[in-house]
Amino acid sequence: MNTPIRNSIRFLLNDKLIELADISPTETLLDFLRLERRLRGTKEGCAEGDCGACTVLVGRLSDSQLKYESVNACIRFVGSLDGCHVVTVEALAARDGTLHPVQRAMVDTHASQCGFCTPGFVMSLYGLWMQNPHPDVREIEKALQGNLCRCTGYAAIIRAAESISAVGDVNKDPLVTERARVREQLLSLKDGRRVEVGAGKQRLVLPADLDDFAEFMDANPGSTIVAGSTDVGLWVTKFMREIGPVVFISHLDELRGMTEEQDGLRFGAGVSYTDAYPLVIQHFPQLTELWNRIGGEQVRNMGTIGGNVANGSPIGDTPPLLIALGATVLLRKGNVRRSVPIENFFIEYGKQDRLPGEFVEAIRIPYLKPGEQFGVYKISKRLDEDISSVCGGFKISLDAHGKVDTAIIAFGGMAGTPKRAGSVEQALIGSSWTEETIDHAVSQFATDFTPLTDWRASADYRLLTAQNLLRRFYLESTGETNVRLNRYAAAVG
Ligand SMILES: Cc1cc2nc3c(=O)[nH]c(=O)nc-3n(C[C@H](O)[C@H](O)[C@H](O)COP(=O)(O)OP(=O)(O)OC[C@H]3O[C@@H](n4cnc5c(N)ncnc54)[C@H](O)[C@@H]3O)c2cc1C
Ligand code: FES
Ligand code: FES
Repeated sequence: MNTPIRNSIRFLLNDKLIELADISPTETLLDFLRLERRLRGTKEGCAEGDCGACTVLVGRLSDSQLKYESVNACIRFVGSLDGCHVVTVEALAARDGTLHPVQRAMVDTHASQCGFCTPGFVMSLYGLWMQNPHPDVREIEKALQGNLCRCTGYAAIIRAAESISAVGDVNKDPLVTERARVREQLLSLKDGRRVEVGAGKQRLVLPADLDDFAEFMDANPGSTIVAGSTDVGLWVTKFMREIGPVVFISHLDELRGMTEEQDGLRFGAGVSYTDAYPLVIQHFPQLTELWNRIGGEQVRNMGTIGGNVANGSPIGDTPPLLIALGATVLLRKGNVRRSVPIENFFIEYGKQDRLPGEFVEAIRIPYLKPGEQFGVYKISKRLDEDISSVCGGFKISLDAHGKVDTAIIAFGGMAGTPKRAGSVEQALIGSSWTEETIDHAVSQFATDFTPLTDWRASADYRLLTAQNLLRRFYLESTGETNVRLNRYAAAVG
């Protein structure tokens, strides 16, 4: 195939069109803004997606609609921004210096002290305000999970968030009133070409479409695929790794599709956590808490399900639940496709069942069958914006006599890969679903797993936690948690 090529990336930065024909594949948006464009309102705190000081908004076309999301500029590569609109804090105040309603609200509620985190909070709140002008506290806290402030205290910032609509009308905001014009501008940047900039290790590529991506990967199997860059970004900013040549895929609409099929859900590998959320919780409400605790809002806007699976981390949050649900990974190399049960995809630490040049095209998740019970629990040191110490996914079904018919139990954080607890499952199958059975089965965790001690948790803690999560699943499945909580509440008055 002879795909037409463009040798530059093009995007809007505030009100300017940027065209770059010479850009490193690992140049971060944060460095570009601060060092090359002298836009220093966007701050660098951690350089690893944790603190939110670098938050900017990125507008992208999704089904030809223009959607603005908060992202971490410190781990977003400039090369991935082709066809996007980047909005930084400098664009907010009017030319005469009048503050933007979000800024005004922050000032009026004394929501800033040293001010270092403030631009990041302002941008996160701006993103929230555009989507939801009257958020409640829970929604505000969710939007701010990825922003840290060391001095003001969050109460004032939440008051600011609550008062923005009293200060300004979102329908008069430039990103709303100018939306159609900016959308047209971005559409005019879409020329259907493959983008190629640089050579050798400095080469960056944005395939024209999914087929072009498959063809490129087949011919260049040593390239690093970058989707949301919430893992890969840190390889660069923290580990100084050379990752070129790089192929960016976050712009590929074909990888962002979601379908409700007859017997399950199909998520393109490039679907972000944010985009997946409504469909995920519609079918699996048990995932609501876990999904809301993956990273912070910026990470959920950027990070993809495909990236979480392909990365193969033993502490990624989706693999345990996907294994428990019996999900399948759909892989593609050139025009050849195959599917692998997800539990077989993880071979050993750092090694997945993926051929050179092959990529994850989609993940299929079967619906629960009648009678199947499902639960997933994430245990981490902090509630928000933290990686799991242990994460467990559970699915069981009982026969007509109340005995366990099927059981799939999978854990992250317990081994070098996400892994099933085969001996625990066997101890359950055929036995009555009772507390005695659970008491017996939990001893089998030590047969299935020899967890590590690291800075997140000790081996003993991990084993005990896994046991307790099975107990929790049992109590929840029988409604016993409510009974015990009520008893406890009555006892303590
Ligand atoms: C602050 C912060 C908090 C986080 N919190 C969590 C958390 O709570 N839970 C959690 O599980 N993770 C968390 N992560 C990790 C990360 O967000 C997830 O693993 C995310 O799903 C990665 O997706 P991505 O699109 O950003 O992947 P990328 O970083 O773009 O890629 C990750 C890996 O997958 C490969 N890859 C990506 N797409 C494909 C594809 N289609 N085919 C083949 N290979 C592909 C890349 O080459 C790379 O090896 C966090 C990260 C940060 C920075
Ligand atoms: S600098 Fe901390 S999240 Fe980017
Ligand atoms: S105002 Fe100082 S870190 Fe938030």
